[in-house]
Amino acid sequence: MDGDNINSKNKFALCSNELLINMENNFDKIISFAKRRGLVFQSSDIYGGMGGFYDFGPLGVELKKNIKNSWWRYMVQERENVFGLDSSIVMNPNIWKASGHTETFSDPLSECKKCHKRFRADHLQDPTKCPDCGGEMMEPRNFNLMFKTFVGPVEDSASVAYLRPETAQGIFVNYRNILNTQRTKVPFGIAQIGKAFRNEITPGNFIFRTREFEQMEMEYFVKPGSEEKAFDYWVEQRMNWYVNELGIKKENLRIRKQEKDELAHYSRGCVDIEYNFPIGWSEIEGIASRGDYDLTQHQKFSGEDMNYFEDETKEKYIPYVIEPSCGVERVFLAILCDSFTEVEGGRTSTTESNKEKEYLLRINKKIAPVKVAVLPLVKNKKEITEKAREVYNLLKQNFSCQYDETGAIGRRYRRQDEIGTPWAVTIDFESVTNNDVTLRNRDTMEQVRVEIKDLVSKIYED
Ligand code: GAP
Repeated sequence: MDGDNINSKNKFALCSNELLINMENNFDKIISFAKRRGLVFQSSDIYGGMGGFYDFGPLGVELKKNIKNSWWRYMVQERENVFGLDSSIVMNPNIWKASGHTETFSDPLSECKKCHKRFRADHLQDPTKCPDCGGEMMEPRNFNLMFKTFVGPVEDSASVAYLRPETAQGIFVNYRNILNTQRTKVPFGIAQIGKAFRNEITPGNFIFRTREFEQMEMEYFVKPGSEEKAFDYWVEQRMNWYVNELGIKKENLRIRKQEKDELAHYSRGCVDIEYNFPIGWSEIEGIASRGDYDLTQHQKFSGEDMNYFEDETKEKYIPYVIEPSCGVERVFLAILCDSFTEVEGGRTSTTESNKEKEYLLRINKKIAPVKVAVLPLVKNKKEITEKAREVYNLLKQNFSCQYDETGAIGRRYRRQDEIGTPWAVTIDFESVTNNDVTLRNRDTMEQVRVEIKDLVSKIYED
């Protein structure tokens, strides 16, 4: 069994025998895995759910947090001229008039005359026929995707407000605040991570299209004329993040230029970064060249001067904007699809003879939900469990850890492999006297002996 035998010759033989089958075209298995292992749950589960809403369980919340932290470090912390923001979800409704969302943020909705089911007209193969009952469809009408609410105790037209459908507008309306308080110059960026809400007509494909999701967006303000260079720069930077920071396979990513008729109302040009999902190539991020559309609109509607004065040239202008924008849940799903692997027959010779399947999440170490599993070899020897607790208390200050003493050690390794834990630390009889442990690598299954005092630095350095 995997891990029961720490003989390195044997291990090498086991690794070379493994037959890995990537889970292409197996979306259902990935969804069921995500539910089974507590990454994602249906929202309001005990009440039969709520279409387009999801909850994230213990492992899901860790993975989401790691994705967001990675984005924040890469986009804000490591750059001198990008500033963070956390604006409110409900804002003055005039913002949505200025941005064009009240007028144009809609999808064509079509209803069946017979069964009264509703569909997005542009998603229907035959727009005249109901895909469910074959009934005749009504003429499509535009359906605004913003969630409406009322602020204060009176529910009248004066108190109507919206849940933001993108975080971007919170950034634009803070452009002056950041400029005035941060002593910065163009070019500079404002970045924000936060919830967005869209009353999608047809949410679906698990967490790919939901009604509540999180966006990671940055508005980068540049001098008009330099937007093309900035656009190319950000496309390259964003691809780097997916490949080098998240470890997504390059061949599963591509850049697609949006056609003119696909562009959002504010956009002068846009490329999508797409991932090769089991459901087909689909957008995980849009990088848009928004020109001066938003700042000009807000200047018009608010009366605030949005001009930037360039000291060196004495020029006055409204900056142009480049916007990389992605959804946390879509990145989450891409990571799951990219790393989820089924191992036919298992990775070890003993399990192979049983022809059982093993699941392995080859997730990048930097973003794995659990970094280290602490495993006492047996649970009924006090000196071993005490030592294991000591190791756990040491490691949990540095890494997200799981302490697990239930079941055979090989089974526990497999449980950790399945959730993508990069390292497992096993405490055995020798650990008690020698103050050392076995450190197991998820991908190679290689096991090395490490002194407890060196464990933290060894894990960091790997
Ligand atoms: N501020 C620009 C903007 O919001 P978008 O293309 O509508 O542009 C950006 O959205 C990203 O937000 C998308 O690439 C996607 O990752 C995510 N996103 C948009 N709608 C979504 C939905 N209904 N469910 C999940 N993620 C969504």
